[in-house]
Amino acid sequence: MRSQLRPHWDAKAGTWDAHLPRSDLFAELLDTVLGAARPGPGDVALDLGAGSGFLTIPIAARAARTYALDHSQEMLRLLGDRVAAEGRTLFAKRGDLAGFAPPPERVDVVVSNYALHHLSHEGKRRLLRDAHDFMAPGGRFVVSDLMVPLTLRPGESGPLIRKVASIARKGPAGWWRIAKNLVRWGTGRGEYPASLEFWQGALHAAGFVDVGGRHVGEESGVAWGTKPAVAG
Ligand SMILES: C[S@@+](CC[C@H](N)C(=O)[O-])C[C@H]1O[C@@H](n2cnc3c(N)ncnc32)[C@H](O)[C@@H]1O
Repeated sequence: MRSQLRPHWDAKAGTWDAHLPRSDLFAELLDTVLGAARPGPGDVALDLGAGSGFLTIPIAARAARTYALDHSQEMLRLLGDRVAAEGRTLFAKRGDLAGFAPPPERVDVVVSNYALHHLSHEGKRRLLRDAHDFMAPGGRFVVSDLMVPLTLRPGESGPLIRKVASIARKGPAGWWRIAKNLVRWGTGRGEYPASLEFWQGALHAAGFVDVGGRHVGEESGVAWGTKPAVAG
């Protein structure tokens, strides 16, 4: 499936690194992901929605082999430049999170940062089931993302309303993002952040064990699970 969002990320690739990836929030997300994923010298790793390599580079420094998937050609070009500059070997592939061919070998560590909210909730569940199939026993799946529950239900809508308000405060660029999302939600192509509780439930449902997670900052979180070492 060709994604409608790719041109957006191609255009944004050159400026992305100067913003969130340099924030204290992302530094804490990175520490939390590395702590939960524990990539080691014998591991094969996969970064989903890798962008210009915020997670990929530190993971590649620890794992034996690292694969990166993204649908933005421009993000992958930046990632390639950074990896070459650091002398790492990386298998970067252009593909869509909503359906991609897994690496040609068992994967020990799957990570993702700020990308999986582009999938519908059913898409997230499907991805977890597929990952569980192609991961090695004992493998760790770690998702770091915007974790604001997408609901307007009374009592649960506060985080979403605060997030929309903070986007609106950015002025015309923020209003444009909100307007685009309203149109995309109407056509099933919006941003769909899920709560930490959603991710933990979906990890359990896909067969992962030792499921955990934590909130980071006001609107982000990291959730993780392990594929059982013995099928059961
Ligand atoms: C917010 S950026 C995060 C990039 C990187 N993970 C980071 O933390 O800096 C989101 C990334 O997800 C990619 N992306 C969004 N939707 C995608 C999809 N459907 N398939 C593949 N990549 C996608 C974008 O191209 C972009 O590189």
